[in-house]
Amino acid sequence: MATDLRVSLTDRCNLRCSYCMPPEGLPWLPNSEVLTDDEVIRLVRVAVERLGVREVRFTGGEPLIRPGLTKIVAASAELAPRPQLSLTTNGIGLERLARPLREAGLDRVNISLDTLDSERFERLTHRRRHHDVLAGLTAAVAAGLTPVKINSVLLRSINDDEAPALLRFALAHGYELRFIEQMPLDAQHAWDRATMITAAEILAALQAEFTLLPDPAKRGGAPAETWLVDGASGLDGRPAKVGVIGSVTRPFCGDCDRTRLTADGQVRNCLFATDESDLRSALRGGADDDEIARRWRAAMWGKRAGHGIDDAKFLQPARPMSAIGG
Ligand code: GTP
Ligand code: 5AD
Ligand code: SF4
Repeated sequence: MATDLRVSLTDRCNLRCSYCMPPEGLPWLPNSEVLTDDEVIRLVRVAVERLGVREVRFTGGEPLIRPGLTKIVAASAELAPRPQLSLTTNGIGLERLARPLREAGLDRVNISLDTLDSERFERLTHRRRHHDVLAGLTAAVAAGLTPVKINSVLLRSINDDEAPALLRFALAHGYELRFIEQMPLDAQHAWDRATMITAAEILAALQAEFTLLPDPAKRGGAPAETWLVDGASGLDGRPAKVGVIGSVTRPFCGDCDRTRLTADGQVRNCLFATDESDLRSALRGGADDDEIARRWRAAMWGKRAGHGIDDAKFLQPARPMSAIGG
């Protein structure tokens, strides 16, 4: 059974990363369909108490724009056994929210940053918010939301020359950097396997400047394959790491222990699932915790063996990444 729950708290976002959504945004979910804070808290409780979930990650869209985030984190931190609580965010607003979230019980954050150049950032995200992301990174470390991980997606001819510079930046500040292969989850359906920057390319670019050593730590179900950076150490004094999430060329589906809940209360057993199980209707129809747990378990039984991105008959899911919760 899945032990890692990813909860999308909103499908909205204050950036427009080109590999995710178009500049004009998307038709957002109507508020009436989005789970209320209390509904989210109830489903997280059922997952922890009845499904054996041990890690809860809040995602979006952009989870920091959800007004009830701190309340949801605080309620999740009171569950027994207490789950690990983390957040995947673009970092905007974290300067203000890092401390209250830490006090509410958040353990750590992953922050997206694809470039060190503010003009490139604007080209990539269609917003002038580079400074806010950097401030968010600093605030996250100051609040103790560590280890702070950075997620970077490299795009050809836009930021594909930045892998070594991003790693130098991460090492200098004590962030753990991971590069993510671009996945076919953009709303525009513009993903192209032929131009995607592969894990192998990223590793070659890093190895031109750094010596990467195998990481002896167990990977478990983690998406990131990690290496130790020879001669560098992190904020805790341990060897610094760099990771690659090779979802396309080095898939890790076989070890996946994740279950996903969308902002409108649908369970997905895979990022690439083409069907969902409607817990919101069950919840609003008066189902008790036993019934919700039963439906949730049943939704996980149908999990496919792999995402099949390279299969001729691969179908991109109807929902884009921002509505699934990466
Ligand atoms: P930690 O390393 O524990 O912090 O978790 P994580 O790497 O899963 O967290 P994060 O939310 O930062 O995800 C990083 C990237 O991994 C995102 O682009 C996710 O979409 C991707 N990812 C997470 N889960 C899956 C999955 O089940 N399948 C695939 N293909 N990618 C995933
Ligand atoms: N492919 C790979 N990563 C993506 N992200 C968003 N869309 C995609 C995509 N199509 C990343 C974000 C964030 C994480 C949750 O997923 O940059 O770091
Ligand atoms: Fe927003 Fe994340 Fe999508 Fe960028 S990748 S537009 S930050 S939801």
